[in-house]
This record gives sequence, C-alpha cells and structure tokens, in this order.
Amino acid sequence: MPTQPLDAPAPAAGGFGRPYDTVFADGDYLPAAQAAVSVHANALSYGTGTFEGMRAFWNGEHQQLYLLEAVAHYERLERSARILGLPLRWTAHELVEITAELLRRNQVDCDAYVRPILFLAGEVLTVRMHDIRAKLTIAVTPTPGDYIKGDGVRCMTSTWRRPCDDTMPIRAKITGSYVGPAMAKTEAIRAGFDEALMLTHDGYVAEATTSNILARYGRQWVTPPGTDNILEGITRRQVMELIAAQTGHPVLERRMHRSEVYVADEVLLCGTAATVVPVAEVDGRLIGAGVPGETTVNLRRDIRAIANRTDPRHPEWTTPVYPEGGPAGWRQP
Ligand SMILES: Cc1ncc(COP(=O)(O)O)c(C=O)c1O
Repeated sequence: MPTQPLDAPAPAAGGFGRPYDTVFADGDYLPAAQAAVSVHANALSYGTGTFEGMRAFWNGEHQQLYLLEAVAHYERLERSARILGLPLRWTAHELVEITAELLRRNQVDCDAYVRPILFLAGEVLTVRMHDIRAKLTIAVTPTPGDYIKGDGVRCMTSTWRRPCDDTMPIRAKITGSYVGPAMAKTEAIRAGFDEALMLTHDGYVAEATTSNILARYGRQWVTPPGTDNILEGITRRQVMELIAAQTGHPVLERRMHRSEVYVADEVLLCGTAATVVPVAEVDGRLIGAGVPGETTVNLRRDIRAIANRTDPRHPEWTTPVYPEGGPAGWRQP
C-alpha cells in the first residue's frame, strides 16, 4: 500500500510525494526499513554507483499504469554498469518485469517515479571499484507535482561546469557525478533563477542540471552532441524523433556557443523528471518573446499523452503494469 494516500497534503518541492514503502533490494521485495544500507558502505563515501530515473504514468480511464521507456532506461543502466565495472545480474527486460511487479505490490495508481540504484554497498573504505559487494535497489515515489515549473523557466549559466569524459565517464549516470549539478542548482536558486545551464570545460553549452537542452533557429532545432559531456537523455531522443516527424527536419547535433542560446527563437529543456519545459530567459535575456514556444508546448503535451497512452503514437515507448482490470483485479502473490 502507498505510505501516502492520494488526498495527502501538498507535495514536497520538486514534485515528489513520500516514497512507497515496498522496495526491491537484494533480489527481494521488502519494506524499505529492511533494505537499509550500512553507514560504512563504500558508495556513501565515494559515490561509487550508478542509477536511473524513470517515470510511470497513470491513466484513470484505462485503469492502467504505463512505464515510460523502461527498457531504454535499464539498457542505459547496463551500459553505465559496464563502464564502471559493476556486476548487474539481471537483464534489462528482467528489470522491467521486476519494476512492474514492484509497482503492482505498491498498488501504484498515480504518476510515479522509479529510482533503481546499483552501488558498492560493501563496507570497504578503500577508494576503488573492484572486489566490493554491489547491491541493486529499486524504489518508487509518487509524483503529484511538477519537478520544474512548466510555464517558462528562468536559467542562469552556472559557474560550475560539466566534467569532461577524461575526468569522469560522462555517459554513465554516476551517483557521485551529481554533486556538480546539485551545486549548480543551488547556486541558481539562491541567485533567484529556476535552473542552471552548465558549460563544457572549454565553454560550450552542455545541458541543464538534470535535463538536456534544445534550441530553435527558424525551422532548425539544434542540440549539443553526445561528445560535449552531456548525458544523452532518453527524453532528448524522444523529442528529437517527434520534432523530425513533425517538421520533416532532423535536429542538428552540434556544438553550441553560450551566446547562441541568447538569440534562439525557442529553447527547451527535456528530461525524465522535467519531461519538456520551455525556457523563458537565460542570464537576463528573454528567449524569443519570453513566453513558452509553440513547439515546446506541443511537445510537452504530446510526450505526456504518449506516456499514458491517451495519444496512440509510439506504444513501443510504454509498458503496461497491470493485467486487464487494473489494480482492482490484481492480487498480491
Ligand atoms: C545530467 C542529466 N542530463 C540529462 C538528463 C535527461 O535524461 P533522461 O531524458 O534520460 O532522463 C538527466 C536525467 O536523467 C540528467 O541527470
């Protein structure tokens, strides 16, 4: 059962509610308290782990919960594990089934966020990746609100930069690598902005703290390439696919100057937590007319509708969680 009923008090900032109590840990479904991790765990000191963030979207009419791009997220976890040399004993498809079962056991009937983490849980103080026990946990949190406001985000360029791939493997979603984005986000909020844009070590635009950036010049959309220290987002891939289908113009992946962002006709951020959000302002300069761009507004609507299958396009992006009849017809094994 959820630890928080649907009529619970207003969600905490960032759009997340209180996590559900049942988690997946050590190959079993357990109450979260029984899945506790040692304070001596290697990952707690050094951030030696990798994680994913995926969403599930509820459709009340269908009485169904849909996992969005679950296979793609677990394939990225597999790649991250391979880069870090962490053992992962389940395939991506097995992990999707485990996640669907976890959502069913928590009887999730609202939009939710799924957080798998694969990390070095062994009580070893040495700084290394090898010969330390790894652990996989998966937890679920309701998402009753928006992670980031959807009506026009005000960004600043952060003084903190994205690490280069020779500093830390940037296409692995590494737990420890989020200190930089966390510093950048706090810097932006304390300076009165909503979000931070992060540059590469040599001054090109990379991405926001937990989302990718795309900008439009006339009919042409542009986004920084995978070799500019970005995490290549699954939402970025979806957005690029939808833009190409709608406009007939593929999105151009190329290096972007900071000042190019100032003069774009439209700028958007996209990521699993944010979905798609319009950027209204960067470093005090209005983007376009300073109001959400039409393509961005449409993409935000379309991706959310595809996610809960009110839009019939791309059913291959979603996985239904419940059998026919929805949560009411499902009994815990
Ligand atoms: C640093 C960073 N960049 C980009 C993204 C967007 O990726 P995705 O669309 O796969 O969530 C995320 C979110 O996971 C992120 O943390």
